[in-house]
Amino acid sequence: MSKLTEKEIKRKIIVTTALPYANGEIHLGHVTSTYLPADIFTRFHRLKNNNIIHVCATDDFGTPILIKAEQEGKTPVELVSYWNEKDRKDFEDFGISFDIFYKTSSEENIQLTQYFFKKLLENGHIFKQKVNQPFCEKCNKFLPDRYVKGTCPFCKAEEQYSDGCEKCGKTFQPGDILNPHCAICRSEPVIKESEHYFLKLSNFSDQLRKWLTDNKNLQKEVKNYVLNWIAEGLKEWDITRDIPWGVPIPLEEAKGKVLYGWFDNHLCYISTALKYFAERGKDGKKIWNSSGIYHFIGKDIVYHHYLFLPTMRIGVGEYKLPDFIPTRGHLLFQGQKFSKSRGFYISLREFLDTFPADYLRYYLTMITSYGQTDVNFDWNDFQSRINNELVANIGNFIYRTMSFIWSKFDGIVPDPEKYSDLDTSFEEKIWNIEDEVGNDIENIQLERALKKILEFSSHCNQYFQKNEPWTGGERAKNCLYLSINAVRSLVVLLEPFLPFTVEKLWKQLNLQEPLHGLGWASISKFIIKPGHKINKPEIPFKKVEDEEIERQKDKLKIKEEIV
Ligand code: 2FM
Ligand code: ZN
Repeated sequence: MSKLTEKEIKRKIIVTTALPYANGEIHLGHVTSTYLPADIFTRFHRLKNNNIIHVCATDDFGTPILIKAEQEGKTPVELVSYWNEKDRKDFEDFGISFDIFYKTSSEENIQLTQYFFKKLLENGHIFKQKVNQPFCEKCNKFLPDRYVKGTCPFCKAEEQYSDGCEKCGKTFQPGDILNPHCAICRSEPVIKESEHYFLKLSNFSDQLRKWLTDNKNLQKEVKNYVLNWIAEGLKEWDITRDIPWGVPIPLEEAKGKVLYGWFDNHLCYISTALKYFAERGKDGKKIWNSSGIYHFIGKDIVYHHYLFLPTMRIGVGEYKLPDFIPTRGHLLFQGQKFSKSRGFYISLREFLDTFPADYLRYYLTMITSYGQTDVNFDWNDFQSRINNELVANIGNFIYRTMSFIWSKFDGIVPDPEKYSDLDTSFEEKIWNIEDEVGNDIENIQLERALKKILEFSSHCNQYFQKNEPWTGGERAKNCLYLSINAVRSLVVLLEPFLPFTVEKLWKQLNLQEPLHGLGWASISKFIIKPGHKINKPEIPFKKVEDEEIERQKDKLKIKEEIV
């Protein structure tokens, strides 16, 4: 294949991950459902040499941010820039490799959002209406969404915010909440009139239904859920907020009003991607419209991504709709729901202070399927998977092979001789594993892919054991030659999952070419030649001790008591 054709068939992919609110720490729930799967997927495609970018940003606007800034005596701008930096660092230390991490309060996003508003207005999808807005006389302000708490009109759960229920997952209009009270002073709000703008979601029912039905990549479970919402009838969506922190509504008559955060935040996927491409002198809009678009999210924001987001794109008609919206369940911790607001969670930072990032990446991937079922983090399970799978299986094979070559062959890869049947069937395994794992990652079945890697490693261990290389001779040479190549294949297979460990292992393998130069296609090749000298190997993973697990469990108990 000529160079040009190779280049031509490179796929273009844009991956986005749900934008974290810029008012608090990234916790394990976030990374499990969203950032880790997206990162594995992105790293895989980079190794496949495709043109993929991973776009993210902080979600800066909205009432909760304003409340937090007020509480901390900061301006919202100071608050969001603090969290933007902090999130960026947390993600980096966890190995989440964004190509760009920006912010919804950027000039670019404000402009794109205002453009969308004007277009939707022009196209007849936005109308104006006076609404009765809760107003707290004690606090002297309008109380939009999160300033009002009350009882969910659908499932009757108490202490819910007025824009949606955490328990049943439904989204509703601020006026629908039962027994409303001010979130700050708990007094009952009075009703005051305010002029708001509404997006006519119902204009789009047919197009949404068609898009959902035609798009075969969307997960069935979620799709049916959303189709039911459409069948029940979509309500008009209030996109105005009477607060001073948001994208200003670009109309003279709407001075002082801003757009709801869920109107602008997902547009930041687009505005940020456009910025990325503009900085590289490329036509981002053209690229967006000819790329595979993947929005990775958690199941709590299905409504927004399957209804608001496509509606706005259809209504403006200039930017392609998503091809995939990989949606995963919540993370339970020791059987309980994580909740930032209740303080029952483990922050990513806290975890990284104690364990290597790759342990967490490994464990979370192994327990998270590609579906909406909730995932349970269990300390004992964590310990046993790390110790039995990562240490005793994968780590064992890698270290055993390398240290054997290091100590018995002076670090030099031996020349193989005539293969036995065992060798030939092992060689075949190495040829096949690339596609087996690759297909799963391509289909976002990440835990399946990692399980296949683990099985492959088990097989490698068995092969090594059966060949008894310590007895020397031909068998030892073949075994070590094939095993070191299997180690290298394993290292490439693991890169999307365990990037930090892989970086170290690659150095120990002492190969001339960088891992990314060789890429995913090299997995099935025997790159390490006889005579190649490896560097001194180091044990890649260390056991997690019982005391550490007990310490973690105790820590959580303390937290539970506080809650
Ligand atoms: O639920 C959240 O945490 C939101 N900040 C997610 C926003 S994703 C978006 F931008 F669409
Ligand atoms: Zn109040």
